[in-house]
Order: sequence, then C-alpha cells, then structure tokens
Amino acid sequence: MALAHERVFGQRADLLPVAAYKAYIETYGCQMNFADSELVAGILQNTGYGFTQQPEDADLVLINTCAIREHAEEKIWQRLRYFTSLKRQRPHLIIGVIGCMAERLKKRLLDEAPVVDLIAGPDSYRYLPQLIRQVESGTKAVHVLLSREETYADVAPLRLSPNRVSAYISIMRGCNNMCSFCIVPFTRGRERSRPWESIVEEVIHLAEAGYREITLLGQNVDSYEDRGVRFAHLLAKVAEAAPQVWIRFATSHPKDMQDEVLETIAQHPNLTPYIHLPVQAGSDAVLQRMNRGYTAEWYLQRVEAIRRYLPDAVVSTDIIVGFCGETEADFEETLKLMEAAQFDSVYQFMYSERPGTFAARRYADDIPPEVKKERLERVIQSAQALSLARNRLQIGTRQRVLLEKPSRRDPKDFVGRTFSGRTTVVRGAAAFANPGDIVLAEITDATSATLIGYVSCPN
Ligand code: 5AD
Ligand code: SF4
Repeated sequence: MALAHERVFGQRADLLPVAAYKAYIETYGCQMNFADSELVAGILQNTGYGFTQQPEDADLVLINTCAIREHAEEKIWQRLRYFTSLKRQRPHLIIGVIGCMAERLKKRLLDEAPVVDLIAGPDSYRYLPQLIRQVESGTKAVHVLLSREETYADVAPLRLSPNRVSAYISIMRGCNNMCSFCIVPFTRGRERSRPWESIVEEVIHLAEAGYREITLLGQNVDSYEDRGVRFAHLLAKVAEAAPQVWIRFATSHPKDMQDEVLETIAQHPNLTPYIHLPVQAGSDAVLQRMNRGYTAEWYLQRVEAIRRYLPDAVVSTDIIVGFCGETEADFEETLKLMEAAQFDSVYQFMYSERPGTFAARRYADDIPPEVKKERLERVIQSAQALSLARNRLQIGTRQRVLLEKPSRRDPKDFVGRTFSGRTTVVRGAAAFANPGDIVLAEITDATSATLIGYVSCPN
C-alpha cells in the first residue's frame, strides 16, 4: 500500500531505557512498514535492547525493506554496501534484512550480501529474539514463513516518531487481491484482520497518551472483517472510543468500498473525510490486464458517491504509467479519468516488473523507459494543475488545522493538516502554538502542495 514512500530514521533515544545492546532500525517503503518497525522495536525492547539513531553506535542494524518497485530494492543493495564497510570497523555488529525484500529474496541476500546475518519476513518478527541468539551463536538465521494468522495483536509497538501527535495502527495484514503487477500478496501473504477489540484498546491507549490523530492501516481496509465486524463497524467503534482523536485510514479499494463506510464517516465528527482510492489506470483494457476488478466508469461512480456523502472529502489516488501493452490511447484515458475525478492529489509511478507476478509471467514489459518517463511527466503536470485548482477552492474558508511541526522554510510558521487532510502552512503560529494543537485557520493562499493560512481564533 502506500501513500508517500519515505525513509524514516531512528528512534527517540531519550525516551528509551539505557541498555547494554543498541539497535538501529532503518525503514523504507509504505506506512505499513513504518508501523511494522514500531512492532519490531517493541519486540526488541522486551528483550532488553536500547536504541540509537546512529548505525555507527549500534550492535544490531535492521533494515526494514520494500519490494514494490525495482528502485526500492536497488536502494537497499546500496545501503548494504555501506553496512559492509561499517562491519569492518565493528566486527560484532549484527546486520538483519527484514520486511518485503527479505521475504522475496531470502537466500539470495545471504549469498550475494555476505554481510547479512539475519533475514526475517513480515510474519517472522515474533521470532527475532531467537534469530538474534542464533546469529550470536555463530550461524546465519533465516525466517521467512508467511502465516495465515499472524496479526501481532498482542505486541505493544514502541512508538518511534519523535512527534507524539500522530500514530499508525495496522488493522490487517496481507492482501488477497492479486493485482497482476503487484508483489505484495507474495511478500505479505494472505489477508487477515486483527481482532477489533485489540484495535479499540490500542486506540484508547493512544488517546490517553495524548495522540491527536490515528491512521488505521491495511492493504485493503474495505475487506476488514472480524467475527462479523466489518470496516464500517470498526470505524464507528474506534470513533466512539476516542471522540477527541481524528481518525484516518488507508488504503481503500474501488471494487470493495461500500457506501456504509462513507455513511459512517459522515455520521461521526472525528472520522476524517480523506479517501486514498488508487485507480492505477483509466483504460478498461489496462484495468482488466491489471486484474483490478472494476472499470473506469465504476471508479468514477465511487468517486461520485464519496462526494455525495462527504462534500468536503479529499480524494487521492495512485497511478501506474507504462503498464504492459498501454497504448497512447489507453494512457489518454488515464488523463481523462484524472480530470473527471478531480483528484486532490496523485501518487504516480512508472510500471516496474516484479518477478513472479502474473504480469511478469504473462505480459511483456513492452513500454520503452523513455515513453514511461514521458507519460509520468504528463501525469505529474496534470496532477499539479488539478491539485492547485482544488486547493484554490479553499481560499477564503476557515479550516481546523492539526499542527504537526514548525516549518522548515520558516520556523515562525507551523505545518499541519486540515481535518480532511490538506497540508497547510499556518503563518506565525510558532509564537503561540505547539505540535498537537488544533487551530482555526483562515486560508488566504494555496499552491498545488499546500494551503496557506493565518490563525483566526486559537482553539
Ligand atoms: N510498478 C509500479 N508501481 C507499482 N505499484 C505497485 N506495484 C507496482 C509496480 N510493479 C504502485 C501501485 C500501488 C502503489 C502502492 O504502488 O500504484 O497502489
Ligand atoms: Fe497490491 Fe492490489 Fe493488494 Fe494493493 S490491492 S497490495 S495493489 S495486490
């Protein structure tokens, strides 16, 4: 899944116990991976590990990896070269590769990167303490078995982000969809939902700890199901358990998104109307080859339903350009759909063939790289124009903004997000506000990426 693919370093060392052994976790990929690193940190902390932000001080380095595109994996090979040189200076250092790339490449990592001592796939984190002991006793350790049940419901994550405002909770793991381009079903396994009680408990715990915003995560949240509790029911339970907390979620699937979810959001004042609804392509022929299970028309009707139930909704999407056999006419359908859907933001990717997927086995990756690049560029241009137009509609309105951190450009300003999820710079707010405050801002300007506003009345 994924919204922004980002790289997150480090821990909040000052909050953690001093321990004899120090771990350093480097995370790549989607929000799910970020949430997984927090589970891993929780598991390591229980075995007495402390944490460091510097791999140079660590006794254990874990790289939580992503396999979604080839580029994501290339970055990891590059980092492994750095860790090889680090290990020359610190021979006792244990290096582990965990996450999706560990699951996909397994032994190849051990063969081609001798620096790697430990490999653990996304369903193997519970075994990390044993795997580490195995490495300490002199053998390499590999655990990559996918599970049908593992949800880590009983594992308390250690919150890694220095900001105590926003947190992620995984509500399910894996994916059953088998989109033909996607490696996720192979690296994360079959879909399973975490028991709803444990999710609600964690939400209450976070609310009591002062968190203001919680994002519920799953590859396909609309197929959440636990003993008759569907996603809409879960949303209602979570919203009612923590009425002061803004609740977000991702990712929705167009073929599964039900009106009952939209209705539930409309009925609860703390469920935010932000819907990430990946479309991937605008041509029905391409959608069919992708095995997405809907047509462009169906997708647009889903967007219409969102706007009907939630007039203030922010709708974002993922688009892949240059999928196998995508003609210029197919691609133009994507641009047309973008216009019709009036997306607030778009995450765009060039198709990257993943070995073992249906597309890799059955279709030729036949769009030349320069054509993929050119199409990507056209998607970016169109997305920016749409985002700018959508953001400009907010000028003159008043929006509640949850403040996250001082702006890097000007520390007098604060950056945060509106209730519906639009990034907003609040001018001058650093003089009186703190991260986690919700202010009422008058929106006076907009770019394609942000709204700009002033506090009209501190809340
Ligand atoms: N190539 C390019 N993009 C991909 N995505 C998933 N698999 C691939 C691939 N093989 C994109 C999809 C998905 C997002 C998380 O990553 O758009 O929604
Ligand atoms: Fe991949 Fe499709 Fe599952 Fe998303 S829904 S994780 S794109 S298989």
